[in-house]
Amino acid sequence: MNHDFSKLPDIIEKHPKSPQSLIAVLQDIQKEYHYLPCEALKLTAEALDLPLSKVFSVSTFYNAFSLDPRGEKVIRICTGTTCHIRGAKQIEHQLETQLNIKSGETTEDMKFTLEVVNCVGACAMAPVVIVNDEYFGSVKLTDTRKLLKGGNNAN
Ligand code: FES
Repeated sequence: MNHDFSKLPDIIEKHPKSPQSLIAVLQDIQKEYHYLPCEALKLTAEALDLPLSKVFSVSTFYNAFSLDPRGEKVIRICTGTTCHIRGAKQIEHQLETQLNIKSGETTEDMKFTLEVVNCVGACAMAPVVIVNDEYFGSVKLTDTRKLLKGGNNAN
């Protein structure tokens, strides 16, 4: 896990010292560390002159932010109805086996986090798997290794 928080002041200082910068600062921190470390919330609150409770509530409100450490690659499997009918559960089980974790967990080497999500609005290409922000449709069981490797040639 990346415990080197020395970049935090630079990340925060890139933004105007104003409460309006809060979401942009948190986005940059999330991007760097893949989650929002407690230290980051405190430093952000101090730098933007905001109560820690406000920073915390914004951090927990948006799904894009995570207070728990996450892997470099976040793999989301859509388990909405259409994806479910087209085999999402089998894909989930296969990925769990290949990564040796359960959905909702992160591998020990912090490379992968596996999550299930509800319909992501791309039912026409079900079953859908999202690797970070990249969507993959019509995913087959034979595609999961490729998704873990790089994702780019999954279709
Ligand atoms: S159910 Fe998976 S995209 Fe709609």
